[in-house]
Amino acid sequence: MSKKQHLVKIKKGKNYAWCGCAESQNQPFCDGSHNKVKEKYDNILQTLIDANLISTEQELQNLIAQNDKKPILFKAEKDIEANLCGCGQSENAPYCN
Ligand code: FES
Repeated sequence: MSKKQHLVKIKKGKNYAWCGCAESQNQPFCDGSHNKVKEKYDNILQTLIDANLISTEQELQNLIAQNDKKPILFKAEKDIEANLCGCGQSENAPYCN
């Protein structure tokens, strides 16, 4: 898994799926790995709930939101070399900030 930015050529009018979970082996693009990450995280979350280690509804909602990492679908508006995020933390995703 790479956490650095990726300089990639994107083509005008082509659809892309940028990886928002940072677990893809095909960075910066989605390869479906987010499904495995979500399944693993859901199991951990259920264990915490069963053990009463999550005390508030807000805490539960925050944990669920953190687990909601999905690809971002976008269409390139022009042929460019784009600087795409590789860490999944950019506030300007799919672009690096
Ligand atoms: S593999 Fe990361 S969002 Fe799909």
